[in-house]
Amino acid sequence: MSDKTSAILDQFKENQEKTTIDTSKTLRVGIIGTGWIADAHIQGYKKMPDVQIVAGSDIIDGKAEAFFKKWEIEGAECYTDHKEMLKNAQLDAVSICTYNRTHAVCAIDALESGVSVLVEKPMSVTLDEAVAMCKAEKKSGKLLSVGFQPRFDPNMQMIKKIVESGELGEIYYIQTGGGRRRGIPTPFGTTFIEEKTAGIGALGDIGCYSLDMVLNAIGYPKPLTVTGYTSNFFGTDPGYYKTHPEYAELFGVDDFAAAFIRLEGGIIVDFRIAWAMHLDTSGDTIIMGKKGSLRIPSTECWNGTVGGEMKIYHNVAGEPVETIIPIIVDKSEGMFYNKIRSFLDCVKNGSASPVPSSQILINQAIVDGIVQSGKLGREIEVSIPNID
Ligand SMILES: NC(=O)c1ccc[n+]([C@@H]2O[C@H](COP(=O)([O-])OP(=O)(O)OC[C@H]3O[C@@H](n4cnc5c(N)ncnc54)[C@H](O)[C@@H]3O)[C@@H](O)[C@H]2O)c1
Repeated sequence: MSDKTSAILDQFKENQEKTTIDTSKTLRVGIIGTGWIADAHIQGYKKMPDVQIVAGSDIIDGKAEAFFKKWEIEGAECYTDHKEMLKNAQLDAVSICTYNRTHAVCAIDALESGVSVLVEKPMSVTLDEAVAMCKAEKKSGKLLSVGFQPRFDPNMQMIKKIVESGELGEIYYIQTGGGRRRGIPTPFGTTFIEEKTAGIGALGDIGCYSLDMVLNAIGYPKPLTVTGYTSNFFGTDPGYYKTHPEYAELFGVDDFAAAFIRLEGGIIVDFRIAWAMHLDTSGDTIIMGKKGSLRIPSTECWNGTVGGEMKIYHNVAGEPVETIIPIIVDKSEGMFYNKIRSFLDCVKNGSASPVPSSQILINQAIVDGIVQSGKLGREIEVSIPNID
């Protein structure tokens, strides 16, 4: 490796700082929706010395009680109506772990009750819902953050660092997305695949991650137009399911989506996402700039992470050179813990959201644009209403 190449690499060396938790103030935390992902939230909260888990709600009678019993949380109040919980439990913060369709209503109710919100991804199903959530946040003066834990993966952070370093120059084209050969998420039931609970499929599950990976790196420019496509050939095929052919009847969302998106500043995003396909990967993510390009390998069962060492293609002393960015091993408590921790730190010190709603609103506008354009079968203009 030349001195010049190693100097380039040095600027991307890992820097993982450990922080200490201020226990002088404790936070009263509740959980709305005590299903599968709520397990990950409660495991995070249980590790935090400044958190009291005081309440939970689930529309299924007895589910919140069973959840707290399983996680050995004594004295937590249990509700079947999240509004009752918000009225009685005097919460500082709430995790919203319900299925997609109820993210908006629960988040707005919490913010209107003066409670800060960490809502699971996707932010919502529609752009209108996301706008209403942002308005409720602004009016409440509380915090709304969206649960995009890949943001806390040091390898994802490296992508942003590389783009911001200027090493790639001006970005003009991005290819992103991810795919699973056989990855429709049904191991714990059908809330991911039914229209009435999920509303959107692969797009809302992993598509929003893939968009965030690149849009966050380039500073979240707004979309201008979207040409979108969605399909559901696998989810609606009874032969796809080994044990539950009846799921095909229930399947009401997308299992594949693709789009061509024009962003402000003239950047093009070529996007595709698959829960299922006859292919190993739908391609690596590439970010092409006037001075260099970055290749980010996909993973086999894409879940929003970097699949291997990244490569910068650029010229050094006029010669084409490839700089390898090795995978960084996360030595912290992990990205899921860090997403919750950073949210609570902001609730405590009043600082800006670690995954701001203003950015994820743009992400949701693109997801919504793909759905709408797919329905119409043509390109559409995207405009995001003002949040005032
Ligand atoms: N960040 C991640 O890695 C990750 C992983 C999996 C799921 N998720 C997201 O988490 C959300 C939930 O997924 P899941 O797999 O836990 O689903 P799930 O179906 O297992 O759990 C959802 C729970 O919410 C409850 N619920 C629905 N509406 C409610 C309401 N108004 N009040 C109280 N409870 C309500 C349901 O009864 C159910 O128990 C989804 O939006 C999904 O996209 C995120």
